[in-house]
Amino acid sequence: MRKLILTLSAISLFIQVWAQNNFSFVGAGKEIDPYHYTVVKRAEFKQAAVSSAHPLASMVGAAIMKRGGNAFDAAIATQLVLAVVYPVAGNIGGGGFLLARKPNGELIGIDYREAAPEKASRDMYLDKAGNAQMNLSQSGHLASGIPGTIAGLFATLPYAKLKIEQLIQPAIDIATIGYVLTEKEAASLNGIRDAITKFSTQPTAFVRTEKWKVGDTLVQKELAATLERIKQNGARGFYEGKTAELIIAEMQRGNGIISINDLKNYTAKLRKPINFKYRNHEIISFAPPSSGGILLAQMLKMIEKYPVSKFGFQTTKSVQLMIEAERRAYADRAEHLGDPDYWKVPVKTLTSDAYIAKRMSDYDPNKASVSSNIKAGDIKESEETTHLSVADAQGNMVSVTTTLNGPFGSKTVVGGAGFLLNNEMDDFSVKPGVANMYGAIGGEANAIQPGKRMLSSMTPTLVLKDNKPYVVIGTPGGTTIPTSVYQAIVNIIDHDMNVGDAIDKPKFHHQWFPDNVTIEQDFNPETKKELEKMGYKFVERKNGWCKIEGIRILPNKRKETAADRRGDDSVAGF
Ligand code: DON
Repeated sequence: MRKLILTLSAISLFIQVWAQNNFSFVGAGKEIDPYHYTVVKRAEFKQAAVSSAHPLASMVGAAIMKRGGNAFDAAIATQLVLAVVYPVAGNIGGGGFLLARKPNGELIGIDYREAAPEKASRDMYLDKAGNAQMNLSQSGHLASGIPGTIAGLFATLPYAKLKIEQLIQPAIDIATIGYVLTEKEAASLNGIRDAITKFSTQPTAFVRTEKWKVGDTLVQKELAATLERIKQNGARGFYEGKTAELIIAEMQRGNGIISINDLKNYTAKLRKPINFKYRNHEIISFAPPSSGGILLAQMLKMIEKYPVSKFGFQTTKSVQLMIEAERRAYADRAEHLGDPDYWKVPVKTLTSDAYIAKRMSDYDPNKASVSSNIKAGDIKESEETTHLSVADAQGNMVSVTTTLNGPFGSKTVVGGAGFLLNNEMDDFSVKPGVANMYGAIGGEANAIQPGKRMLSSMTPTLVLKDNKPYVVIGTPGGTTIPTSVYQAIVNIIDHDMNVGDAIDKPKFHHQWFPDNVTIEQDFNPETKKELEKMGYKFVERKNGWCKIEGIRILPNKRKETAADRRGDDSVAGF
C-alpha cells in the first residue's frame, strides 16, 4: 500500500513538473486552443490574474504564471500574443509604457514610447503654405515613430523569471497555426482592408480576396518568422539583421524616413513614476512623456477637498465638479507637457497642493467655466491602443498600456515581416494650435525634434490601500484615457464600487478644447439636462470609448478581475 502511494505521488509530482516545463500548451485541443475560446468578463481568482483585450492573450498570461512565471513574465507573453491576435493595437511595431510594483515596494516605470527618427523635423508635416497635412502624420510610412515595444519587452525581462524562448513561444505558435476571428475582429479587418492595401507596398496576411467573417482563421507566417528571429537573437532580432532590413526596405518603397541607425540606437528608458495620495490611497501612474500620471494627479487632487461620495455617482454636482477639474488639467497638458529629455516639464509644481488650489480658485459650482477663459497655469518653475493588467500570487502588480496610436497604426505592414507600424508621429504637435486625431492641441513642449518622444495620454496606473496592492488599472482611448482612469478610480474609492462596475459605468470626457462634454449613450439623462442649464454643451458618442482592464486585490488577496464590457476583452487566472 505504502509503495503504491509513493508511486502515485511520484507520478503526480512528475506530471506537475512536466506541466510546468511544457511550454507547448497552445494548439488544437490543447490547454489553449486558438480555434475554440470564449470571452470571460468578470471572475475572482485565488492567486493570479490577467485582464486584456483578447481571451487568448489573457489565457496565455495566466498559463505562464501557472508554469512558474511572475506578473512580469505574464505581461511580456500577453503583449506578444496581443501583437498576433489583436493587430488593431497589439503590436511589435509600436510602443508603450509598463508600470509595476514589486512586493518589496520597488516601483518600476519602463518607457518604450516611439521616438522621432533622426531625419524628422519640426515642420515635416507642413506644406509650402504652412498648412498642416494631417494625412501624412496619420497614415503611411511617414507617420511612424521608431518602434519601442521589443526594446520594452527586453527591458522588462530582468524582472521576469522565465526565458524569452518560453515567453514568446505561444505567440509564435498562434501566428503559425492561426486563430479564429470573432465577429468584431472580422468586422475590424474588413473595415481597414482598403487602407492597408493603400498604405502597404506588399501583400499582407490581413487582406485576402474575400471578406473576413466570424469563424475564419487568420494565419500570420511572416509575423511568426519575425518572432522566431526575436526568439533566436533577442532585441537584435528586431532592431538589427533581417527584420531591420525589411523595415528599411519598406521605408524606402514608401518614402518613409526611419533609418538603420534609428533602429540600432533605440533604447527603452526607465522613468520614475508619478506618485501621490488621494483619500488615503496611494496612486502610482506614468510620468512624462506620458501626460497620464500628471493629469490623473491634478484631476484627483482638484476634487479631493469636495465630498464626492456624498454628492453621489454621476449626479449633477459630482459630474460638474469632475468636468471642471478635467478642463483645467487638460489646459496644462497642452502647454506644459512633452518629452522630459527635450523639454523641462514642471512636474512638481503641476502636482503641488498650492498650485492645484490656485487652479480651482475660479471654480463655480453653479455654472460652466468657459475654456477660452481658462489658460494653462502660469508656471514660474524652471482608438487604438490596448491595456493589460496583471497581478500574481507573490504581490507583483504590472500595468501596461501599449499602442500603434490609431486603429492598425499607419496601416503600413512591413513587407515580408508581417507586422504593422505605428502612426505615433501624430501625437506630436504638428503645428501649434492644430488638433491631432484626438482633438488635442499643443505647442512648443511637444514640437517634433529628432529622437524626441511624442506626448502620450497613456495612463497605466496602480493603487495601494494601507500600503498594500489594491488596484491595477488602465485603458486605451487617446486623450480620453486619463479621464476614464480618473472616473474608474473615483467609482472605486468614492462610490465604493467593485472593479467591474467601476469600469463598465457610462463615462464623460472634457479636454479643455473643444469646449464640450463628450458622453457615452447611456449617460444619465437627468444629469445631462441639469448641466445643460448651467451652460455645458454635450456631444453624444454612439460607440462607447475606453476599454478598461482592471484587477482589485481583496483583503484576502483574491483578485477581483474585470474586462471592459465594450469589446472582446477577457479575463483569465487561477
Ligand atoms: O499615446 C497616446 O496617447 C495615444 N497614441 C493613444 C492612442 C489610443 O489610445 C487609441 N485608442 N483608442
